[in-house]
Amino acid sequence: MAFFFILLSTDIAWAAPDAIAGKDKAQVCAACHGDKGVSSITGTPHLAAQPQLSIFYQLLQFRDQRRKGGGMEAIAATLSEQDMRDIAAHYASQPAPPPHTGGDAEKIARGQQIAQQQYCSSCHGAQLQGQKHVPRLSGQSSEYFVTQLRNLRSGARADMDGTMASAARSLTDEEIEAMAVYARSLP
Ligand code: HEC
Ligand code: HEC
Repeated sequence: MAFFFILLSTDIAWAAPDAIAGKDKAQVCAACHGDKGVSSITGTPHLAAQPQLSIFYQLLQFRDQRRKGGGMEAIAATLSEQDMRDIAAHYASQPAPPPHTGGDAEKIARGQQIAQQQYCSSCHGAQLQGQKHVPRLSGQSSEYFVTQLRNLRSGARADMDGTMASAARSLTDEEIEAMAVYARSLP
Protein backbone atom coordinates (compact mmCIF):
# COMPACT_ATOMS: atom_id res chain seq x y z
CA MET A 1 0.00 0.00 0.00
CA ALA A 2 2.93 2.35 0.69
CA PHE A 3 3.65 2.82 -2.98
CA PHE A 4 0.07 3.74 -3.64
CA PHE A 5 0.01 6.48 -1.02
CA ILE A 6 3.20 7.98 -2.42
CA LEU A 7 1.45 7.99 -5.77
CA LEU A 8 -1.50 9.86 -4.31
CA SER A 9 0.61 12.42 -2.53
CA THR A 10 2.48 13.30 -5.73
CA ASP A 11 -0.91 13.99 -7.29
CA ILE A 12 -0.82 17.61 -6.26
CA ALA A 13 1.94 18.43 -8.70
CA TRP A 14 -0.28 17.65 -11.70
CA ALA A 15 -2.98 19.62 -13.47
CA ALA A 16 -6.52 18.34 -13.02
CA PRO A 17 -7.39 15.49 -15.41
CA ASP A 18 -9.12 16.76 -18.54
CA ALA A 19 -11.60 14.30 -20.07
CA ILE A 20 -12.05 16.44 -23.22
CA ALA A 21 -8.31 16.42 -23.94
CA GLY A 22 -8.33 12.74 -23.01
CA LYS A 23 -10.86 11.95 -25.71
CA ASP A 24 -8.43 13.22 -28.38
CA LYS A 25 -5.47 11.49 -26.80
CA ALA A 26 -7.42 8.21 -26.67
CA GLN A 27 -7.84 8.03 -30.44
CA VAL A 28 -4.83 5.71 -30.69
CA CYS A 29 -6.47 3.37 -28.18
CA ALA A 30 -9.78 3.02 -30.02
CA ALA A 31 -8.52 0.42 -32.50
CA CYS A 32 -8.34 -2.10 -29.67
CA HIS A 33 -10.42 -0.71 -26.80
CA GLY A 34 -13.27 0.65 -28.96
CA ASP A 35 -14.35 4.23 -29.60
CA LYS A 36 -16.07 4.63 -26.24
CA GLY A 37 -14.01 2.10 -24.32
CA VAL A 38 -16.11 -0.94 -25.22
CA SER A 39 -13.83 -3.36 -27.07
CA SER A 40 -15.07 -5.69 -29.76
CA ILE A 41 -11.90 -7.80 -29.66
CA THR A 42 -12.14 -10.97 -27.58
CA GLY A 43 -9.91 -10.80 -24.52
CA THR A 44 -9.23 -7.06 -24.79
CA PRO A 45 -10.58 -5.24 -21.74
CA HIS A 46 -13.39 -2.70 -21.79
CA LEU A 47 -12.21 0.57 -20.27
CA ALA A 48 -15.58 2.35 -20.22
CA ALA A 49 -16.70 3.40 -16.73
CA GLN A 50 -13.51 2.04 -15.14
CA PRO A 51 -12.48 4.15 -12.14
CA GLN A 52 -10.12 6.88 -13.26
CA LEU A 53 -7.46 5.98 -10.72
CA SER A 54 -7.52 2.33 -11.73
CA ILE A 55 -6.84 3.13 -15.40
CA PHE A 56 -4.11 5.60 -14.45
CA TYR A 57 -2.47 3.16 -12.10
CA GLN A 58 -2.49 0.31 -14.63
CA LEU A 59 -0.94 2.56 -17.29
CA LEU A 60 1.87 3.39 -14.85
CA GLN A 61 2.34 -0.33 -14.20
CA PHE A 62 2.67 -0.99 -17.94
CA ARG A 63 5.00 1.97 -18.47
CA ASP A 64 7.29 0.75 -15.69
CA GLN A 65 7.15 -2.83 -17.07
CA ARG A 66 5.75 -4.11 -13.81
CA ARG A 67 2.77 -5.37 -15.80
CA LYS A 68 3.13 -6.80 -19.31
CA GLY A 69 0.63 -7.88 -21.92
CA GLY A 70 -1.07 -6.97 -25.17
CA GLY A 71 1.83 -4.74 -26.21
CA MET A 72 0.63 -2.22 -23.61
CA GLU A 73 4.16 -1.63 -22.24
CA ALA A 74 5.25 0.01 -25.51
CA ILE A 75 2.02 2.01 -25.80
CA ALA A 76 2.13 3.30 -22.23
CA ALA A 77 5.78 4.32 -22.68
CA THR A 78 4.65 6.94 -25.23
CA LEU A 79 2.31 8.66 -22.73
CA SER A 80 3.10 11.40 -20.21
CA GLU A 81 1.49 11.09 -16.78
CA GLN A 82 -0.80 13.98 -17.74
CA ASP A 83 -1.84 12.05 -20.89
CA MET A 84 -2.60 9.03 -18.69
CA ARG A 85 -4.73 11.11 -16.34
CA ASP A 86 -6.64 12.78 -19.18
CA ILE A 87 -7.27 9.48 -20.99
CA ALA A 88 -8.35 7.85 -17.72
CA ALA A 89 -10.81 10.70 -17.09
CA HIS A 90 -12.22 10.23 -20.59
CA TYR A 91 -12.85 6.50 -20.23
CA ALA A 92 -14.13 6.85 -16.67
CA SER A 93 -16.84 9.21 -17.96
CA GLN A 94 -18.10 6.82 -20.66
CA PRO A 95 -21.27 4.73 -20.22
CA ALA A 96 -20.65 1.28 -18.75
CA PRO A 97 -20.27 -1.65 -21.16
CA PRO A 98 -23.58 -3.41 -21.86
CA PRO A 99 -24.14 -6.38 -19.51
CA HIS A 100 -23.87 -9.80 -21.13
CA THR A 101 -26.82 -11.58 -19.57
CA GLY A 102 -27.12 -14.39 -22.10
CA GLY A 103 -25.90 -17.89 -21.40
CA ASP A 104 -25.82 -20.07 -18.39
CA ALA A 105 -28.11 -18.85 -15.56
CA GLU A 106 -26.81 -21.58 -13.29
CA LYS A 107 -23.23 -20.49 -13.82
CA ILE A 108 -24.15 -16.86 -13.13
CA ALA A 109 -25.77 -17.90 -9.84
CA ARG A 110 -22.76 -20.00 -8.92
CA GLY A 111 -20.40 -17.12 -9.73
CA GLN A 112 -22.44 -14.77 -7.58
CA GLN A 113 -22.34 -17.22 -4.69
CA ILE A 114 -18.55 -17.60 -4.85
CA ALA A 115 -18.01 -13.86 -5.19
CA GLN A 116 -20.09 -13.34 -2.04
CA GLN A 117 -18.27 -16.06 -0.12
CA GLN A 118 -14.92 -14.55 -1.14
CA TYR A 119 -15.90 -10.96 -0.31
CA CYS A 120 -14.86 -9.70 -3.74
CA SER A 121 -17.27 -6.79 -3.36
CA SER A 122 -15.49 -5.53 -0.24
CA CYS A 123 -12.89 -4.06 -2.62
CA HIS A 124 -14.54 -4.12 -6.06
CA GLY A 125 -17.84 -2.59 -4.88
CA ALA A 126 -21.34 -3.97 -4.28
CA GLN A 127 -22.01 -4.34 -8.03
CA LEU A 128 -18.31 -5.01 -8.77
CA GLN A 129 -18.31 -1.56 -10.37
CA GLY A 130 -14.84 -0.75 -9.03
CA GLN A 131 -13.73 2.14 -6.86
CA LYS A 132 -10.65 4.29 -6.45
CA HIS A 133 -7.70 2.16 -7.63
CA VAL A 134 -9.74 -1.07 -7.72
CA PRO A 135 -10.86 -2.02 -11.26
CA ARG A 136 -14.43 -2.39 -12.44
CA LEU A 137 -15.36 -6.03 -13.12
CA SER A 138 -19.03 -5.61 -14.10
CA GLY A 139 -19.67 -5.96 -17.81
CA GLN A 140 -16.02 -6.93 -18.36
CA SER A 141 -15.00 -9.45 -21.03
CA SER A 142 -15.07 -12.90 -19.43
CA GLU A 143 -11.99 -14.05 -21.39
CA TYR A 144 -10.06 -11.07 -20.07
CA PHE A 145 -11.32 -11.66 -16.52
CA VAL A 146 -10.26 -15.32 -16.56
CA THR A 147 -6.78 -14.59 -17.96
CA GLN A 148 -6.10 -11.81 -15.46
CA LEU A 149 -7.32 -13.72 -12.45
CA ARG A 150 -5.19 -16.73 -13.40
CA ASN A 151 -2.18 -14.44 -13.87
CA LEU A 152 -2.79 -12.77 -10.51
CA ARG A 153 -3.12 -16.18 -8.90
CA SER A 154 0.15 -17.49 -10.39
CA GLY A 155 2.02 -14.22 -9.86
CA ALA A 156 2.56 -13.74 -13.63
CA ARG A 157 0.78 -10.43 -13.05
CA ALA A 158 2.06 -8.74 -9.89
CA ASP A 159 -0.43 -6.52 -8.12
CA MET A 160 0.40 -3.37 -6.26
CA ASP A 161 0.21 -4.62 -2.68
CA GLY A 162 -0.40 -8.38 -2.83
CA THR A 163 -4.01 -8.16 -1.64
CA MET A 164 -5.43 -9.30 -4.97
CA ALA A 165 -2.89 -12.12 -5.22
CA SER A 166 -3.99 -13.44 -1.83
CA ALA A 167 -7.67 -13.05 -2.79
CA ALA A 168 -6.97 -15.20 -5.89
CA ARG A 169 -4.67 -17.79 -4.34
CA SER A 170 -7.23 -20.40 -3.34
CA LEU A 171 -9.56 -20.09 -6.36
CA THR A 172 -10.02 -23.01 -8.74
CA ASP A 173 -10.32 -22.59 -12.51
CA GLU A 174 -13.99 -23.54 -12.30
CA GLU A 175 -14.65 -20.84 -9.69
CA ILE A 176 -12.81 -18.23 -11.75
CA GLU A 177 -14.80 -19.16 -14.85
CA ALA A 178 -18.13 -18.92 -12.98
CA MET A 179 -17.26 -15.53 -11.48
CA ALA A 180 -16.24 -14.24 -14.92
CA VAL A 181 -19.66 -15.18 -16.32
CA TYR A 182 -21.33 -13.57 -13.30
CA ALA A 183 -19.27 -10.36 -13.57
CA ARG A 184 -20.00 -9.82 -17.26
CA SER A 185 -23.74 -10.17 -16.57
CA LEU A 186 -23.71 -7.12 -14.24
CA PRO A 187 -24.74 -3.68 -15.52
C1 HEC B 1 -3.03 -3.15 -30.18
C2 HEC B 1 -4.16 -3.15 -29.28
C3 HEC B 1 -4.16 -2.13 -28.13
C4 HEC B 1 -4.00 -0.75 -28.21
C5 HEC B 1 -3.75 0.11 -29.44
C6 HEC B 1 -4.17 -0.27 -26.85
N1 HEC B 1 -4.42 -1.31 -25.99
FE1 HEC B 1 -4.69 -1.19 -23.96
N2 HEC B 1 -4.79 -3.23 -23.85
C7 HEC B 1 -4.74 -4.10 -24.91
C8 HEC B 1 -4.78 -5.47 -24.41
C9 HEC B 1 -4.74 -6.73 -25.27
C10 HEC B 1 -4.84 -5.38 -23.00
C11 HEC B 1 -4.82 -6.55 -22.00
C12 HEC B 1 -3.38 -6.73 -21.58
C13 HEC B 1 -3.16 -7.94 -20.71
O1 HEC B 1 -3.43 -9.04 -21.18
O2 HEC B 1 -2.73 -7.77 -19.57
C14 HEC B 1 -4.87 -3.97 -22.68
C15 HEC B 1 -4.96 -3.47 -21.38
C16 HEC B 1 -5.12 -2.13 -21.07
C17 HEC B 1 -5.39 -1.61 -19.75
C18 HEC B 1 -5.59 -2.42 -18.48
C19 HEC B 1 -7.07 -2.52 -18.20
C20 HEC B 1 -7.41 -3.18 -16.91
O3 HEC B 1 -8.60 -3.38 -16.66
O4 HEC B 1 -6.50 -3.48 -16.12
C21 HEC B 1 -5.46 -0.25 -19.86
C22 HEC B 1 -5.74 0.74 -18.75
C23 HEC B 1 -5.24 0.07 -21.25
N3 HEC B 1 -5.04 -1.09 -21.96
C24 HEC B 1 -5.23 1.36 -21.76
C25 HEC B 1 -4.91 1.69 -23.08
C26 HEC B 1 -4.75 3.05 -23.56
C27 HEC B 1 -4.97 4.28 -22.71
C28 HEC B 1 -4.41 2.97 -24.88
C29 HEC B 1 -4.09 4.11 -25.85
C30 HEC B 1 -3.09 5.07 -25.40
C31 HEC B 1 -4.36 1.55 -25.22
N4 HEC B 1 -4.66 0.82 -24.11
C32 HEC B 1 -4.07 1.06 -26.49
C33 HEC B 1 -4.66 -3.75 -26.24
C34 HEC B 1 -4.42 -2.47 -26.73
C1 HEC C 1 -8.41 -6.57 -0.83
C2 HEC C 1 -9.07 -6.00 -1.99
C3 HEC C 1 -9.51 -6.95 -3.09
C4 HEC C 1 -10.26 -8.09 -2.97
C5 HEC C 1 -10.85 -8.72 -1.72
C6 HEC C 1 -10.44 -8.59 -4.32
N1 HEC C 1 -9.80 -7.78 -5.22
FE1 HEC C 1 -9.65 -8.07 -7.22
N2 HEC C 1 -8.39 -6.49 -7.40
C7 HEC C 1 -8.04 -5.65 -6.36
C8 HEC C 1 -7.06 -4.69 -6.85
C9 HEC C 1 -6.41 -3.59 -6.04
C10 HEC C 1 -6.84 -4.99 -8.22
C11 HEC C 1 -5.84 -4.33 -9.15
C12 HEC C 1 -4.58 -5.15 -9.02
C13 HEC C 1 -3.33 -4.45 -9.44
O1 HEC C 1 -3.01 -4.44 -10.63
O2 HEC C 1 -2.62 -3.95 -8.58
C14 HEC C 1 -7.70 -6.13 -8.53
C15 HEC C 1 -7.79 -6.73 -9.79
C16 HEC C 1 -8.69 -7.73 -10.12
C17 HEC C 1 -8.89 -8.27 -11.46
C18 HEC C 1 -8.21 -7.78 -12.73
C19 HEC C 1 -9.14 -6.74 -13.34
C20 HEC C 1 -8.58 -5.93 -14.48
O3 HEC C 1 -9.32 -5.09 -15.01
O4 HEC C 1 -7.43 -6.11 -14.86
C21 HEC C 1 -9.85 -9.23 -11.36
C22 HEC C 1 -10.42 -10.07 -12.50
C23 HEC C 1 -10.24 -9.31 -9.97
N3 HEC C 1 -9.51 -8.39 -9.24
C24 HEC C 1 -11.20 -10.18 -9.47
C25 HEC C 1 -11.47 -10.35 -8.11
C26 HEC C 1 -12.33 -11.39 -7.61
C27 HEC C 1 -13.10 -12.38 -8.44
C28 HEC C 1 -12.30 -11.27 -6.24
C29 HEC C 1 -12.95 -12.19 -5.21
C30 HEC C 1 -12.48 -13.58 -5.28
C31 HEC C 1 -11.43 -10.16 -5.92
N4 HEC C 1 -10.95 -9.63 -7.08
C32 HEC C 1 -11.14 -9.73 -4.64
C33 HEC C 1 -8.50 -5.70 -5.06
C34 HEC C 1 -9.23 -6.75 -4.51
